[in-house]
Formats: sequence, C-alpha cells, structure tokens
Amino acid sequence: MTTRKTIANDPDRAPARSHLYAMGMSEEEMRRPVVGIASTWTGTMPCNLTHRELAAHVAEGVRAAGGMPMEFNTIAVSDNLTMHTPGMRTSLVSREVIADSIELMGRAHGFDALVAIVGCDKTVPAAIMALARLDVPSVILYSGSMMPGRWRGRDVTIQDMWEALGERAVGRMDQSELDDLAKHACPGAGTCAAQYTANTMGSVADFLGLAPFGVGDIPAVAPEKNAAAFQVGEIAMDALARDARPSRVLTEDALHNAIVSVAAMGGSTNAVLHLLAIAREAGLPLEIDRIGEVCREIPIITGLKPSGGDHTALDLWRAGGTSLVARRLLAAGLLRENVTLVDGRRLVDVAGAAHETPGQEVVASVERPFKRRGALAILRGTLAPDGCVLKLGGKSDFRHEGPARVFDSEDACYDAIQEGRIVAGDVIVVRYEGPAGGPGMREMLSITGPLVGRGLGSSVALVTDGRFSGVSHGLVIGHVTPEAYHGGPIALVRDGDTVVVDSAAGTIDLLVPEAELAERRAAWRRPERPVERGVLAKYVMTVGSASDGAITV
Ligand code: FES
Repeated sequence: MTTRKTIANDPDRAPARSHLYAMGMSEEEMRRPVVGIASTWTGTMPCNLTHRELAAHVAEGVRAAGGMPMEFNTIAVSDNLTMHTPGMRTSLVSREVIADSIELMGRAHGFDALVAIVGCDKTVPAAIMALARLDVPSVILYSGSMMPGRWRGRDVTIQDMWEALGERAVGRMDQSELDDLAKHACPGAGTCAAQYTANTMGSVADFLGLAPFGVGDIPAVAPEKNAAAFQVGEIAMDALARDARPSRVLTEDALHNAIVSVAAMGGSTNAVLHLLAIAREAGLPLEIDRIGEVCREIPIITGLKPSGGDHTALDLWRAGGTSLVARRLLAAGLLRENVTLVDGRRLVDVAGAAHETPGQEVVASVERPFKRRGALAILRGTLAPDGCVLKLGGKSDFRHEGPARVFDSEDACYDAIQEGRIVAGDVIVVRYEGPAGGPGMREMLSITGPLVGRGLGSSVALVTDGRFSGVSHGLVIGHVTPEAYHGGPIALVRDGDTVVVDSAAGTIDLLVPEAELAERRAAWRRPERPVERGVLAKYVMTVGSASDGAITV
C-alpha cells in the first residue's frame, strides 16, 4: 500500500514545512489531519461578528480530537448595511465569491476536512455550494441569531425598521421615533432575528444534514455557543473518520427535507434560489416547480416572523429548536427518514432526543398549524414562462388583477411609493433588476417595507425579476424568468396593461394580445450592459437564470 504524500512526509515539500514551522507548527502537528476552518467573519456587519471567536473554539475542538486546524476567512455582505447604495447589487454576487473563495482555499491546501462558519444570508448557501464542490468531510456551523430588540414593550427586529420607513412616510411615525427604534431594534451580534433568509438557510443546513441539529438554534451571543463550536470541531474529526462527505450526506432525500423545512417554518423566498443553486452544485436533480409542489402540501408549523406569527428565533430556541420541528414533521410523515446526518445520527435520533419546553407556543403540530398554506408558491404564465416565486407567507389563495405600474429600477419605484403615486389595486412591475440586468437581483427592501407601512401590503401586487428580503411580506412575486435584461415578457409590459396573479391556479399572466406583444418584442432592444468593469461585469457575463439558482457556471 502506498502512503499518501503530505507536507509532513514528502521530502520535496521541505519548503512548505518551513512555512508551517514559521507559523509555530511542530512536526507532530504536521502529521495530523488538517481541518480547514472557513469563517465568514467580517467586521462590517453584526451578523458574522462572532465568527473569529467561534473559529478559535472550533480549532480547539479539532486539536482535542487529534487534528490540525487551519483557519481562514472570506468576505461577506449584509443586505441591511448595503441598502440605498450600489452595494445592494453586490449581495447575491457575494454568494459566488464566498463559494469560490472556500473552494479555492480547499483546493489550494488540500484540507482533509472542513468546517464552515456561516451566518449572514448568502454565507450559508455559499459555504454549502463550496463544500459540495470540494466533497471532503465537512460540517457547517451556523453562528446564530441576534437577540430581538425591545421597544415600547414589545420585541422588535430589523423587519420593524423597514416597515417603520413606510409609517414615517404616512405620518404615523416621526423621525425621532424612527431613530429611537433604530437604537433598539438590533441589540448585538447575530443574524436577523426571525425566520428571514439567514435563519431560513441555517435551518436548511440542519435539514440537509450538514449542520448538527441544535447548534444553529443557539443565539449568537448565548454562552452555550462557544461550547457548541468546540463540539463542531470534534464532529469534523469524527466526520473525517467516517468519511462523511457532502456527497454522502447531502442526498436527494436530504434536499427534499430541506425544502419541507423552508415551507414548514415559513421561510424566505431566497431559499428557492439557494436550494436550486445547492442542488446544481451537488449534482442533484431539482426543478423550480418541484419546490412549489412540496411547499403546496406543507403547512406553517412555527409561529415565527414574518410568516408564521410574531415569535423570534430566540423563542424557537427556547421552545425546542429545529429538532422539535423535525420531530413534528417526522411524526406527520412529511420527512424522508433515510438520511444520515454529518454527526452520524439519523433523523429519527434527532427527533427522539428533541426537547420540548412545556407550554411552548412556537412549534405547533402539522394537524393544528399556524397557517394551513405554506410559505411560497411557484407560478408560471405569459409573464413568467420559466417560472417565478410568490411569497405566500401562509396567506390564503388569492387572485389579484390590476393595471401595471412599470418601473425600470427599484429606485424609481421607491420614489413613486413615497410620493403616494401607487394606489390600491395596482400591480407594480419592477424590472431590469434580475441576476444579469441589475445586476445582482436586489431585494426590493426599500419598497416592500414602505408598501406595508402605508397599508398597501395586501392591496398592491409587486412583480419583479429581482428578489425579496426575508423580512418582506405582502403580495410579492419575484425571480420572474426570463428576466427583462434577456428579453423576457416582463420587459414588454407597459403602464396600464392588465396583469393577473392567481395563486390557486399557479399562474401569472399579462393580458396583452399576442400580436401586440410580438410588435413590442420586435421593437425591444437590450439595454447597455449595466456595468463594464470588475466583478459585477464578470457576474453579468456568467450568471444564469434565477430558475436555475442564478449560479455562475
Ligand atoms: Fe445579515 Fe440579516 S443582514 S443576517
């Protein structure tokens, strides 16, 4: 049997050993399995602020289990901090950059195993995508939610901040109240504090089997988090011993369970994009309509903001966490049992060991859910032949027919809303905000909050080839494909055209005669490329359809 050549035993790699000695490593340590610890720490956001500390505890766990940790970190972009600047176009792009960074480091250093510490929205799918590409034994550590803020006797989150902008616009709140709320909404480190995109994807990591159930639930600043991080280091070494690679953990059944978790927990529409991307990277079959089919059957069983109720992620942790959700879903036969998780447990083990706090009111049963309908639906029709995503948020089925109010950017639409030019019944169409056209699929954060704040959340439909923040709610339909930049029908809509959204039928149609549409199509010209240089230009040239996860290969 030939021994695998490593830095420790390959005579020709003496120069590499000299660099390891330079970092204080001993010969004995060089002979250990090397566990890469990818942290998505940046000092530019609260979401990932704890990652360096967590990485140190993961490293201790790796060392204690006989491994040699090597830490590195990536970039990350917070959607809240980059709003109202060109920065919002960078958010989805950052998913690709983070995935590529982790992949490159993995390929460069040939780590035997990996731990990825993730938090803010894009960092979770990005890490999973990279781990799927590298396919070495890997564990995800979700760094955890922020505590909710307290303001005027109630729990508040970043969602309240966005909606407060609309309330200020209609005079229900003044600037000093808005500024005071800003001081209280986000009390410390951690991800946005309810079932918005980051926590949705944190739960997805659990149900995909890549993150140990129970760890991600622990809030970012809870004292228990560091001990859990130490355990994750040990789990990584154990996963290495069992050869628990993503290709053996992240199976079709696990992917199905993750889709169910998004629906059952009232998760973010961004999960559609990310699940499609993860499936592509893992080589698993998944079409966008399949996500809609699964979600249609699953009620919302957690009472979490923004779709299930008013509870926060802290409440879910106290109630029993995602393990309790898994128990409920398994009991109802909604999950596929034939999965083995990265820590070696089976889903039934997790469900059996789940703790339920007596009297908790956050996790319901499938038989008596918070909302009978699921989180989202997939629509197709003449306005979106390749599909789009409706954020149902547990609402009953609805039909909305109204005149289109067309805007070629989120910013133009923002002005119209704040100036009171949008009225009940309208169908707002915001286009050229797709993956390539924006570029980067902005999240429409500046318009969904004010719409709700102005009381138009349930009387105005918003249709876009961009996407939505996890905090968004209302009659919102995003990810319209083909996108306007590629000449999809959304590019042909004109003010006053009738648009019909029918959630029960799963359709979204533009009621314009085909002959008229053909004329408009013949006259349509693709706009100039939105950017010519740098990372965004590369993204425009390589990004695919949102219905394929907007990946760049
Ligand atoms: Fe980072 Fe919400 S903006 S988790």
